[in-house]
Amino acid sequence: MAVDSTASTWSQRFEQGLHPAIERFNASIGFDIALLQEDLDGSIAHARMLASTGVLTAEEAEQLVGGLEQVRSEAAAGTFNPGLEDEDVHFAVERRLIAILGPLGKKLHTGRSRNDQVGTDLRLWLRRRIAEIDAALLRFERALLAQAEDHAGVMIPGYTHLQRAQPIALAHHLLAYIEMAERDRARLRDLRQRVNICPLGAAALAGTPVPIDRRHTAAALGFDDVYANSLDAVSDRDFAVEFSAAASLVLVHLSRLSEEVILWASEEFRFVSLSDRCATGSSLMPQKKNPDVPELVRGKCGRVFGHLQGLLVMIKGLPLAYNKDFQEDKEALFDTVRTTLDCLEAMAILFEEGLTFRPERLEQAVAADFSNATDVADYLVGKGVPFREAYQLVGGLVKGCLQEGVLLRDLPLERWQQLHPAFEADIHEAIHPRQVVSARRSEGGTGFEQVQLQLERARTRLGAA
Ligand code: ARG
Repeated sequence: MAVDSTASTWSQRFEQGLHPAIERFNASIGFDIALLQEDLDGSIAHARMLASTGVLTAEEAEQLVGGLEQVRSEAAAGTFNPGLEDEDVHFAVERRLIAILGPLGKKLHTGRSRNDQVGTDLRLWLRRRIAEIDAALLRFERALLAQAEDHAGVMIPGYTHLQRAQPIALAHHLLAYIEMAERDRARLRDLRQRVNICPLGAAALAGTPVPIDRRHTAAALGFDDVYANSLDAVSDRDFAVEFSAAASLVLVHLSRLSEEVILWASEEFRFVSLSDRCATGSSLMPQKKNPDVPELVRGKCGRVFGHLQGLLVMIKGLPLAYNKDFQEDKEALFDTVRTTLDCLEAMAILFEEGLTFRPERLEQAVAADFSNATDVADYLVGKGVPFREAYQLVGGLVKGCLQEGVLLRDLPLERWQQLHPAFEADIHEAIHPRQVVSARRSEGGTGFEQVQLQLERARTRLGAA
């Protein structure tokens, strides 16, 4: 039965149906059914355009639209269930339309090819998903912002090389991720301009003798422009690569934050505790509480980066114009979108309710180390000592303290003055972590006033939650 139906898909040139294994191998219906809504939208616009140029009568076009809307209702009701013999979503819809409307249904594909049709569907689909990802990024950023605002005065060790470097405001640290996410949103806005160009009307590759109006369909579908070259229109997948690259960077950012959360939740750091709703236990070790959410986000980078690589390799050797290889773009994009949305949602929930910072631990951490050493050097610089000389002196002092097992804050004034006569009693205040943070007033620095400015800016950019 499958053999008969595939034979009838094609022109009378074909006498035999597909080998069942090849039918399975060839079909994309198993996944491109995800494009159903966009395929219907595109076909409705195409039918109305054909009426506008006189290829169809207005009445024919409206009957086609009615039939397409019926397919939409059947899909909603769960009664539109194409099979392998339909090959892909485009054929499945057309076949059902012909079953509903009879010979009129056979007029829909006039002046169109599946090559420009699938490109149109995919762009419409991606355009919607970009809007969803933008909303998910916003939710994630608002969760970070709320944590930053709740901890405006809290400090955390700042690291370079994962070695304690200088204390910073916790809000400053979280705001850095808001900056990354804002760049992600800007990238999506930018690439959306190239997603939103309409290939419909390129037909198979060369355009069509049928009188069509490409601007009509493009406007009806909300595209900003049409492709200028029909060959480029049906063979361009740059937009898919650009999107995958942008999604990969979203995942890079989420993964770096994940790594930090995993460290912060460890016994060694104990900067955060995880709520029961966002952590799991061990099947063996009863004491364990595992940070599965950030670990999974970190782990899911692999598939998203892999899809980017897969798309690049899939496209690079293709001659113009359409090649069946393009069918492979869909699963890559679908999985990239689903993974990106899932990871953004999980990380938003983690910051909304899954993790609690431990200010007492953070305070201990910033007080009990040598991350104020730079400020001793800067203090001397303030007294006219050249920086490199001050740097050397303080290095020697830290070495002595390490040997004695004391911190800089424990040193009496005489000891400071032995090191350099410029030290005065205010050195103790100058190296207090709160002062160390506050002193970094340079634009974009961690000083509390600068961080307040950043918070205000983020509030304005992200709007009310
Ligand atoms: N299922 C195909 C795809 O995803 C639709 C386009 C097929 N075009 C063709 N000439 N065979 O790319």
